[in-house]
Amino acid sequence: MEIIILPSAAEVGRLAARKIARTIITKPTAVIGLATGSSPLAIYAELAAQVRDGSLDTGQVSGFALDEYVGLPADHPESYASVINREVTTPLALDAARVHVPDGRADDLEAACAAYEEAIRDAGGVDIQILGIGANGHVGFNEPTSSLRSRTRLKTLAPQTRADNARFFDDPDQVPTHCVTQGLGTIMDAQQVVLVAQGPGKAAAIAAAVEGPVTAMCPGSVLQFHQHATVIIDDAAAAELSLADYYRYTYANKPSWQRF
Ligand code: GLP
Repeated sequence: MEIIILPSAAEVGRLAARKIARTIITKPTAVIGLATGSSPLAIYAELAAQVRDGSLDTGQVSGFALDEYVGLPADHPESYASVINREVTTPLALDAARVHVPDGRADDLEAACAAYEEAIRDAGGVDIQILGIGANGHVGFNEPTSSLRSRTRLKTLAPQTRADNARFFDDPDQVPTHCVTQGLGTIMDAQQVVLVAQGPGKAAAIAAAVEGPVTAMCPGSVLQFHQHATVIIDDAAAAELSLADYYRYTYANKPSWQRF
């Protein structure tokens, strides 16, 4: 796992965007794994600026969102279908037909989850997965004790996650209790993973995911087994890492040909 610590949240977004853009430039038909939440917003804003100024062509890019609430109407402003449309598909000028979000309204959710896995496989798999991390270590909506090999499925949201996400709803009771999420095994199949985190509220989760034991108690820790995972965080999110100075040293001395 490569850990990159940068002085500000803005720099985290810029560097992660550069890595995503590099993937798209190398492979114009790239399949991008899309995360919701506030953590990746700076990445999307940066990529959108590159699309606007003509330096990035996303015309053939596909996207697969990590997760969706169960039971929200698709046009609800906080459904992840709406969020992805607003924050990603439109500003990045993606072809909407190539952008997929799990179906949280299907009568047969199990079949919808299986179909989502198949759609990812049919697209050739995810080239680069963008991830945030929850304060309890969740990635996607894989809450603590999620199987490290899980696939896309129905999950119950942890009370902490519902409380964390209440800020997006008028009333905390409106936060759905269930979701559909790509599993940890699904996420681990991506060729590359870029996890971003900013702020002191993520420091404990980052320390557990990066330096703690690999355990279902901290779902993000499964990335220690990933072949190509990059964690890009600001100083505040790095505050509880015991080897922070080593990661800074390693990045400062990274060979130029390995920089992105
Ligand atoms: C959300 C999403 C995750 C996200 C995480 C952190 O509930 N399901 O994909 O990474 O929680 O959210 P934020 O980036 O807003 O802190």
